[in-house]
Amino acid sequence: LGLSFFLSIQEKVSAQNDTPLWAKETPEQKTKRMQWWTHDRFGMFIHWGIYALPARHEWVKNRERISDEAYQTYFNHFNPDLYNPEEWAAKAKAAGVKYVVITTKHHDGFCLWDSKYTDFKVTNTPYKKDLIRPFVEAFRNAGIQIGFYYSLIDWHHPDFPYDRMHPNAPQTKEERVKANEKRDLKKYQQYMKDQLTELLTQYGQIDELFLDFSYPGEEGKGHEDWDAEGLLKVIRKLQPQILVDNRLDLDDTTWGWDFVTPEQFMPQEWPTVNGVRVPWETCQTFSGSWGYYRDEYTWKSPHQLVVMLIETVSKGGNLLLNVGPTARGVFDDRADERLSAIGRWMKFHSRSIYGCTQAPDDFKVPQNCFLTYNPETKRLYIHVLEWPFKSLNLPGYKGRIKYAQLLNDDSEIQFRTQAVKGSHTTESTGEDDVILSLPVERPDVEVPVIELILN
Ligand code: GLC
Repeated sequence: LGLSFFLSIQEKVSAQNDTPLWAKETPEQKTKRMQWWTHDRFGMFIHWGIYALPARHEWVKNRERISDEAYQTYFNHFNPDLYNPEEWAAKAKAAGVKYVVITTKHHDGFCLWDSKYTDFKVTNTPYKKDLIRPFVEAFRNAGIQIGFYYSLIDWHHPDFPYDRMHPNAPQTKEERVKANEKRDLKKYQQYMKDQLTELLTQYGQIDELFLDFSYPGEEGKGHEDWDAEGLLKVIRKLQPQILVDNRLDLDDTTWGWDFVTPEQFMPQEWPTVNGVRVPWETCQTFSGSWGYYRDEYTWKSPHQLVVMLIETVSKGGNLLLNVGPTARGVFDDRADERLSAIGRWMKFHSRSIYGCTQAPDDFKVPQNCFLTYNPETKRLYIHVLEWPFKSLNLPGYKGRIKYAQLLNDDSEIQFRTQAVKGSHTTESTGEDDVILSLPVERPDVEVPVIELILN
């Protein structure tokens, strides 16, 4: 009876109380593992692949039920001649982005690296070269942490069973069941393990892994279909420090995910699991699509995007903001404009984002504002969405403020506790309120921020 027997007993025992041995970690260890991420707050998502050619959403194969043969056209024409990841990294950095997550493979199954387990990869397109290695190098050189998105779904792999979402599935359930007899899910599970092993061994340290996604239920896919536990075990073994999203359908466990991932809407408040606030990262698009979509015109304004970043951090979360580069390999003008605007704001206000989180509950939120708070420096940031004239009332802040300034220029903001008394003033305050004396002219920035240095 050697060590391995002992370990296998251990594994069984701990499985009974839910956590496999290899996934054991104290809450303190987890907090420490996630520290860079909860500090950095702002990441860039990049959705890129051959769907940039049709330029009609990354789900185009599904939406238009495009056959493998027809979809191959895009593969045959993929040649991003202007691809320059240094330029991407420079733009990301200027926008204040601290980490990046790129689609190594999306649902269509196309791989952006030279995987030895498939032919459906960039090195077989007219472009011929691996896209991921230069990408990783460029972003790492810019001081940006690296994340990979990897689609669990695969509409190209011959062993991925037809289901309710597969664009090329036969029409009737009977036909699907029949066709699936030739599809070996076990082989597909191994394919994912092999590919993730490539991704997690050939590119140095990978900081985040975004697996996408589960849809359990009838003719869907969930943790058993993925062998989610087996997959995660491989991942953690190869990159113990990596942060993994919650889309493996292991939400019911405490160990099968690091953060939750609401997308395309803003949570009302800090998301909780069993009543406890959990780490969260919301991914959002500039327009409605993740992949480059030429004719999509519902683009969010720079103001909406800056507010989105602030609101996310004010609720203790991270924002992963998506760019969908074109098939030539560049960010289009609409994306560039927005990134520059965010960068202009971040240049002067990143102090209210990095290292910040939701303010303690005993700081009431002033009217038309969002609050963020840096627990280390003990500074409170008031993001003023609608600039009032002359004064801003801070309810119950009396005795708590040492100094106040505008963040964009470190110019002093004077404050008082007494309302101005005069026959025509209506200014009224509670006993414990503080009134900030603001310039009438709104600072010329996307969202002005007041920094309070607390007692
Ligand atoms: C959804 C979509 C996918 C996109 C992802 C980003 O899951 O299927 O196209 O990549 O959201 O989180």
